Amino acid sequence: MDASDLGSDLDHVLLSEEQILGRLAEMAAQVEADYAGRDLLLVGVLKGAVMVMADLSRAFTRSIDMDWMAISSYGSGTKSSGVLRILKDLDGDIAGRNVLLCEDVLDSGLTLSWLLRNLSSRGPASVELLTLLRKPDAIKVEVHPKYVGFDIPNEFVVGYGLDFAQQYRNLRCVGTLAPHVYGG
Ligand code: PRP
Repeated sequence: MDASDLGSDLDHVLLSEEQILGRLAEMAAQVEADYAGRDLLLVGVLKGAVMVMADLSRAFTRSIDMDWMAISSYGSGTKSSGVLRILKDLDGDIAGRNVLLCEDVLDSGLTLSWLLRNLSSRGPASVELLTLLRKPDAIKVEVHPKYVGFDIPNEFVVGYGLDFAQQYRNLRCVGTLAPHVYGG
């Protein structure tokens, strides 16, 4: 789905598909250089990270391993509750592995700080975070991603995996919704 398919539901495009894919290719090259000669496991968090995982992983020139988790945090609203539970755990043991957690957005940090602690407790060789988007003004808990695609304003954004009430994840770009959509 393109921005034009949303009509008046989209306020403005923040990042085009070209910008996103270009940045992911740069990040993939950096990750590949940093992990040269080492094992690497990409961990994606459903559902938002699906697009990042798909495009980042395909930009590598080496084979990598992928695993997935699902956790509950936001429900269908726009605010993080900080209440988390694992809906789907990793399939594999990460003891001794180099884990790169891949995310669509670092917002309050509540989910990701919890998740990083959870993964670190499983005895991996390393755990780092890659996020396509970061909202520096929304941060409540300090989280230090090793790789950040773009710093963006603290606006409600959708697309490229990010949803509003489970909709708009399949938008190719990242954009802000018009206030009439979310009742703002
Ligand atoms: C998003 C994102 C992170 C989390 C980050 O997921 O994918 O997991 O929020 O937010 P935080 O920095 O405030 O902790 P969300 O809970 O919206 O679920 P989804 O991936 O299914 O969209």
